[in-house]
Amino acid sequence: MVDALLFDMDGVLIDSEDYLAQAAVAFFESRKVKVKEEDFLPYVGAGENKYIGEVAKKYHLEIDIEEAKLETYALYKECIGDKEKPLSGVIQILESAQKANIPMAVVTSADRAKMEISLEAIGLDHSLFDVIISGEDVVKKKPHPDIYLLAAQALGVEPSKCVVFEDAPHGVSSAKAAQMSCIALTTGFSEQELLTHGADAIIHTLADIEAFTSKQEFEHILLRLFAKEVAKQVHSFAYAPYSHFQVGSAIVSKKTKKIYKGVNVENSSYGATICAERSALLSGVSSEKEFVIEMVVVISDDDPPAVPCALCLQVLSEFSDDDTVVYLYNLKDTMLKYRFRELLPHPFTFVR
Ligand code: THU
Repeated sequence: MVDALLFDMDGVLIDSEDYLAQAAVAFFESRKVKVKEEDFLPYVGAGENKYIGEVAKKYHLEIDIEEAKLETYALYKECIGDKEKPLSGVIQILESAQKANIPMAVVTSADRAKMEISLEAIGLDHSLFDVIISGEDVVKKKPHPDIYLLAAQALGVEPSKCVVFEDAPHGVSSAKAAQMSCIALTTGFSEQELLTHGADAIIHTLADIEAFTSKQEFEHILLRLFAKEVAKQVHSFAYAPYSHFQVGSAIVSKKTKKIYKGVNVENSSYGATICAERSALLSGVSSEKEFVIEMVVVISDDDPPAVPCALCLQVLSEFSDDDTVVYLYNLKDTMLKYRFRELLPHPFTFVR
């Protein structure tokens, strides 16, 4: 399922957007044009030709783009210095992927010169990555798929087995157009905007991905992120006019890794209510023979996050094994993890 990890640079490995915006504002100032940092926002992640070129157009300034970029990079290098650290969780995921033998690439729309300054500023050596692709390597930059497809080709892996970490809507669109999985970070854009562009899951920083030592462990983390997003999306569909307590659930099949979703559906005859976990389970059992649960994800607006009720645990127990895990979330993203057997160590079993 996963053959490579592809990292966008700005906003994923390094929080450089402010420095670049400062440098670009200073460049325009040197040409006696006063621009605002917000002017650059629409072009974040689209490469510096657009980033500087489009703002120059907006202010009717004639520039030689190559010269403008060189000057802006020099200002950027001054602004960033060498005190900047990698973003939270970067070192942990790079070390984990190395342990798990998962190839890695940096795939940035930035020019090579800016990429070099940035990676050096945060102390990331090129040798950490199997492939580094920059904006100059392609004609059509993000949001086109070309740059990610080129990275997959250079790594010798299938695009569908690449997992991309992106923070900008353009980058998400590019990864999805390349048929890759895309985890979006909320470094600079809203969750909603990233989802609208096709992100498969949302994290705040790479530190939301716990350390792993094997590909299998990483794939489990990935499935949890996808399942959580599915549960979160259906959470608001819950039919709960009596309790007003909405619950969303996603259950992952151990065999097929498919994700089945469910919500609680209440009834004016209260006892006829079906909980979210059981409604997800019924969908899984109705779709696959010999259904076994790899994980159950539950999301509710409760603090701490709500635990499946005893009735659900009893029903789930017949489709769980010793490895089944339960992840509980609330809307504030608090997460609790349990082994299924911890929650229901002694299910009722009917033996005759
Ligand atoms: N509920 C669930 O959907 N899952 C649980 O495990 C606990 C409770 C629902 C049932 C009802 O619609 C509402 O939450 C309040 O009990």
